Amino acid sequence: MVIVKCDRLKKRFFGRAGIVKAVDDVSLEIERAEAFGLVGESGCGKTTLGKIILGVLKPDSGNVILGTKKMQVIFQSSYNSLDPKMNISDILSEGLIIKGTGQGEIKRKVEAALDLVKLPKEALKKYPHQFSGGERQRIAVGRAVLTDPEFIVCDEPVSSLDVTIQLQILNLLKEIQKRFGITYLFISHDLRVIKFMCNRLAVMRYGKVLETGPVDYIYSNPSHPYTRSLLSSHFYDIIKNDASLKL
Ligand SMILES: Nc1ncnc2c1ncn2[C@@H]1O[C@H](COP(=O)(O)OP(=O)(O)OP(=O)(O)O)[C@@H](O)[C@H]1O
Ligand SMILES: [Mg+2]
Repeated sequence: MVIVKCDRLKKRFFGRAGIVKAVDDVSLEIERAEAFGLVGESGCGKTTLGKIILGVLKPDSGNVILGTKKMQVIFQSSYNSLDPKMNISDILSEGLIIKGTGQGEIKRKVEAALDLVKLPKEALKKYPHQFSGGERQRIAVGRAVLTDPEFIVCDEPVSSLDVTIQLQILNLLKEIQKRFGITYLFISHDLRVIKFMCNRLAVMRYGKVLETGPVDYIYSNPSHPYTRSLLSSHFYDIIKNDASLKL
């Protein structure tokens, strides 16, 4: 069953260097409970497409048809997304308070979320700066899951983390998906991360989707030259850096 359908989406920006076609005639469908990867180099329009799907940005033309209103987002950097002046208890409760949830229910849900992302209860009284980057990302995951979303846009959720910590967060996201049947739009420029997390993907370049299909199929039979070059530079990186980097 399709949960997100994008139909001929277009979005242009007017910058100093002229017009940027950030999203240029994108159509795609995301199935319920899948992890759909969106891959492409910096500036190709991934975040813009995610924002249009979430309804944060209005497309110039085209439509998004959503099978749910329960959507959340997890960003790359929890430095920016977690308010430094709020303690973790307040950060986690905020969305529930807005929804008018009762005190007892909030306490129960916040504690369950903390447990889910494997942080101790003592974390509640602390502030974001008292945590490591990986722990802060756990808090961001907990906050997203607290409101029982059906669809989460994960926008480069592990890009700012060390590889071992990346793996912990990816495993946590996988576990959560399995348990709650959440659909992910998983944005990354890292093909290893996409392979680890996603069942299908779309390859984006200059605002366009070049190809879409099952991850295993596209990785072994890339039909577009750009996908082939992405894949070869990816394997080059693994050899160049460290074979153990392979997730
Ligand atoms: N609000 C904006 N105003 C002007 N230009 C913008 C705006 N938002 C994005 N752009 C431009 O649109 C293009 C796509 O940006 P976008 O952030 O969607 O790329 P991205 O694929 O998410 O890149 P990254 O991997 O670096 O996050 C870029 O050229 C960017 O500079
Ligand atoms: Mg982006």
